[in-house]
Amino acid sequence: MLKKIFSSKKEKRDISIDKQLDLNKLPQHVGIIMDGNGRWATGKGLIRTSGHKAGVKTLKKILKTCIKYNIPILTVYAFSTENWKRPMTEVNFLMNLFSSFLAEQIDEMCEDNVRIHFIGRVDELPGNLPNELHAAEERTKNNTGVRFNVAVNYGGRDEIVTAVKNIASEVQSGDLSIDKIDDKVIDDNLYTKDLPPVDLMIRTSGDIRLSNFLLWQAAYAEFWFTKTNWPDFSSEEFLQAIVDFQKRDRRFGGLSSK
Ligand code: FPP
Repeated sequence: MLKKIFSSKKEKRDISIDKQLDLNKLPQHVGIIMDGNGRWATGKGLIRTSGHKAGVKTLKKILKTCIKYNIPILTVYAFSTENWKRPMTEVNFLMNLFSSFLAEQIDEMCEDNVRIHFIGRVDELPGNLPNELHAAEERTKNNTGVRFNVAVNYGGRDEIVTAVKNIASEVQSGDLSIDKIDDKVIDDNLYTKDLPPVDLMIRTSGDIRLSNFLLWQAAYAEFWFTKTNWPDFSSEEFLQAIVDFQKRDRRFGGLSSK
């Protein structure tokens, strides 16, 4: 029964995956929970942090694939508000990794016309990291290609609580009447303001949950799970997720869309 939830790489292996892709029906916004770095590393007898290092390579590959196929928005979960519970050495390693990733990739992102944006409690990150993240956003803000959102110190509930507080204070000050509160008002108070909702949500490494990622934005997302650990996730598997997404009947609460 559970097996059906996971993708099968054996299906349609005779036709290459990019030929199965319908370029007119691409998801506009893809979310990815990049899970399994630790398990990938320990499975190889390595320390957990080498899994995160390997995960960076996968992330670069998937970003390039979005650029190649014109997938407009990619949002990835890099560090949650709950990840502070991890050992300090791992947390520090990840913070340094975000910093080195930017230093190494920012020129290439500009060449690729990528606009990077960070979502989450970015200003509460340690040391100079908030400035580095804001500088990267500033440098790429006029780029018109793929919008690359990286969730760092992000929690979906925290995002909604913050939105509720902002809206309540507008009501309290008399700038907003309660009857005017609708989906759009909530959207406008989220980190993803002005972006369309998530169409396709991918999670690697076998767990079948959302883990507090984009709770509001994924309300009608199609979910796609694989047992592959993030460092082993390939562009082909990413395209397979999109091909499978294109076969789904998205009814948005109505009747068949076909
Ligand atoms: C989940 O795997 C992964 C993370 C908490 C970190 C994700 C970070 C990267 C992929 C590094 C690159 C990111 C950027 C933006 C440069 P896990 O450690 O929970 O794995 P496990 O469940 O097997 O322990």
